[in-house]
Amino acid sequence: MKFNTKVIHGGQHHDPSTGAVMPPVYQTSTFVQSSPGQPIGDYEYSRASNPTRTALENALASIENGTKGLAFSSGLAATDCVLRSFKAGDEVIAMDDLYGGTYRMFTRIYKDSGIKFHFVDMNDLEKFKSLINENTKLVWVETPTNPLMKLADIEAIAKITKEKKLLFAVDNTFATPYLQKPLDLGADIVMHSATKYLGGHSDVIAGALIVKDEALGEQLHFQQFATGATLGPQDSFLVLRGIKTLHLRVQRHCENGAKVTEFLNNHPKVKTVYYPGLESHPFHEIAKKQMKNGFGGMVSFTFESGKKEDAISFLEKLQVFTLAESLGGVESLANHPALMTHASIPEDKRKEIGITDDLVRLSVGVEDIDDLIEDLKQALQ
Ligand SMILES: Cc1ncc(COP(=O)(O)O)c(C=O)c1O
Repeated sequence: MKFNTKVIHGGQHHDPSTGAVMPPVYQTSTFVQSSPGQPIGDYEYSRASNPTRTALENALASIENGTKGLAFSSGLAATDCVLRSFKAGDEVIAMDDLYGGTYRMFTRIYKDSGIKFHFVDMNDLEKFKSLINENTKLVWVETPTNPLMKLADIEAIAKITKEKKLLFAVDNTFATPYLQKPLDLGADIVMHSATKYLGGHSDVIAGALIVKDEALGEQLHFQQFATGATLGPQDSFLVLRGIKTLHLRVQRHCENGAKVTEFLNNHPKVKTVYYPGLESHPFHEIAKKQMKNGFGGMVSFTFESGKKEDAISFLEKLQVFTLAESLGGVESLANHPALMTHASIPEDKRKEIGITDDLVRLSVGVEDIDDLIEDLKQALQ
C-alpha cells in the first residue's frame, strides 16, 4: 500500500458491531466479562487498551512502517515512556537543539534520578562517537530540530547505534512520516507530538511512539500500561481523523513553507532564514537525502537589526498568523522561542546553540499563500 492510501486505510477496519466506516468513540473505561477473567471481547480496561485507541495505534504503526504504535496523552508522555526504561548510571546522548520541554524533562527530571545526559551536535559524528561508553543506552535525536531546523543524518547515526547496540529514538514531529521515515532509515523508535501535524487541527494534545521491533513494542506498551499516560478515546478519534488528511495538508504546508522562505530570504529586514529546503541551509544535503516530497512548513528567521524589540513588534502586528505556542495545525502560527516555547532552556544555553532573542519561528499553515505573504509584509514594515 502506498503512503497516501495508508493514511486512510492503513491498519483500519470498519466497526465490527455496526459497520461504521470510522471507528466509534468507545467512551468507556471498562468492558464486560462473562466469567472472572473472561472478557467477552478483546478488551478489559481502557488504560490497557481501547478500540478507538487501537484504531489510531494501528494507523500510527502503518504510516511509520512499524509493527506497533502507542498513543499517549501528550508528546512528552511518549518521551517519558522511553526514558523510564533507564536507571541511575545510564547515559543518554541527545541532539544539542531540542524542543524546550524535552530538554527540561531530561535535565530537570531524569538527571535528578541519576541518568547522565550529553548534548552534542549530531553532525559531529566523531564527537558523538567519543561520548559513547559502556553506560550509554539511548541516543535521542530531533530532525529537523525545533526551532533552528538543524538536521541529523539518521542513517549515519543508526549505523553507529546498531554497531554499539544502543537504542536510537527520533522525534519525527516536524517532518511527519509523509516527509521522513526514521524506522526505514535505521532508528528503533519514532516519537511524535501528535498534537502537531498528525492531529493537524490544533484541537488535541497527544503523543505517539512507533517501533519495528515487536519485543521493544511490548516493553514500551507495558511501561505505558503500568504508568498510565494513555490517550483517551475522543482524542484518539481526533488524531485518527487528522491522519487521514496528513498527506494533503503536509503537501500544502511544504508549498507554503517554501514560498514564505523565499519571501523572507529576499526581505531587507531579515538576516537569516532557517529552512531545510534552502540550498544555503547548512544541512540541505542531508535534507535532500532523508526527506521526501518537500521540506515541511516550519520556518525560523532572525532580524537584520538583531533586536528583540523588532521580533516582538513584528509578532504583535501579525493578523493572519496567530501568535501562539504550538505548530503543525492548518492555521499559521508565529512564536518567539526565547520567550515562549524555549523559555525553559537557560539563557546562556540558548545563546550557545543560537536561539537568539530576535529569532522568530513560523508554523506556516495551509491558508492562501498571498494572504500569508501580505501579512508578513505588513508586519515587517
Ligand atoms: C518537536 C517536539 N517534540 C515534542 C513536543 C512535546 O509534545 P507535547 O506538547 O504534545 O507534549 C513538542 C511540543 O511542542 C515538539 O515541538
